[in-house]
Amino acid sequence: MSRGVRTNVAAVGRHGDRWWEGARASTVECMELRDKVVVVTGGASGIGLGLTERFHAEGASHIVVADLDEAGAVAAAKRVGGTGVALDVSDEAAVAALVEQAEDAHGPIDLFVSNAGYVTVGGLEIDDSEILGMFDVHVMAHIYAARAVLPSMIARGEGYLLNTASAAGLLAQVGSLAYTVTKHAAVALSEWIAITHGYQGIKVSVLCPQAVATNITENSPSRDRPGGGMLGVAARDGVLSPDQLADTVIEALAAERFHVLPHDEVATYVERKASDVDRWIGGMQRMQARLYGDNPQPGDWLVS
Ligand SMILES: NC(=O)c1ccc[n+]([C@@H]2O[C@H](COP(=O)([O-])OP(=O)(O)OC[C@H]3O[C@@H](n4cnc5c(N)ncnc54)[C@H](O)[C@@H]3O)[C@@H](O)[C@H]2O)c1
Repeated sequence: MSRGVRTNVAAVGRHGDRWWEGARASTVECMELRDKVVVVTGGASGIGLGLTERFHAEGASHIVVADLDEAGAVAAAKRVGGTGVALDVSDEAAVAALVEQAEDAHGPIDLFVSNAGYVTVGGLEIDDSEILGMFDVHVMAHIYAARAVLPSMIARGEGYLLNTASAAGLLAQVGSLAYTVTKHAAVALSEWIAITHGYQGIKVSVLCPQAVATNITENSPSRDRPGGGMLGVAARDGVLSPDQLADTVIEALAAERFHVLPHDEVATYVERKASDVDRWIGGMQRMQARLYGDNPQPGDWLVS
């Protein structure tokens, strides 16, 4: 993969006193989209569609758009001269076949964007099948994608994974146990792959937005359940358009930065959580109380 090289003025030299300072290289190789082969899952709608269009504008050579919604994937691909395919990201054989077909037809995949996902409302009262089903889409799908695409990336000594998690994967989604837990797992998984495969030339970023204007609530299987308002929490720092989010993604990929945080506030919240988790939980408890107001609180759903 061709890369530019830029100087990182904030970098600390390799011989810093502390290992984490030494680990921050003094120069950063840039991930550029020009002439890259890209796969985007969940690319028929919302964030995936916005990224597909931006990657095309940045000069990607071919984009494979994969989605449960085949017609939507084909329509999105048509806009960018790419290939649209039906895919359930929780089907490992289908993910492996997609990677094989894409590489046969278009050459090595430079960037795999594992983005498909959905949101639900619910706590401890929901069926296990609902939690495990979300685990398949938000966690196993990233594993299936990495398992399929990494061997050829490692053989070439380069490749990039961009996994969409959520700010909820660093913090919490009030009112959604399954979303919170699976998105945390997606962040942990992404960290693990970055740590484990970095020396083989594999770069990883994890996208952790708060609210983005997409079809996610309309597409939610629990949209008619009482206790909605989940995006109300995420929306407190503003709702970004997919295009605004794409600005941050392009900049973070160029810097090869692990955390992609389209809402600046998230970095502050993560710092506060890490420095005093008890205070952070207290703040989240108050936020939940405010959000649900006179309606049943999420804790009531288990016992009512
Ligand atoms: N919109 C937000 O506010 C927000 C915030 C944080 C994170 N996210 C994450 O962004 C990602 C994209 O969501 P979005 O907001 O663009 O929603 P969206 O509903 O507009 O798009 C999601 C796409 O994923 C597809 N999809 C769902 N399950 C799939 C599966 N099993 N296999 C293949 N495709 C599947 C859907 O068909 C849809 O086209 C999700 O992972 C979501 O959790 C969204």
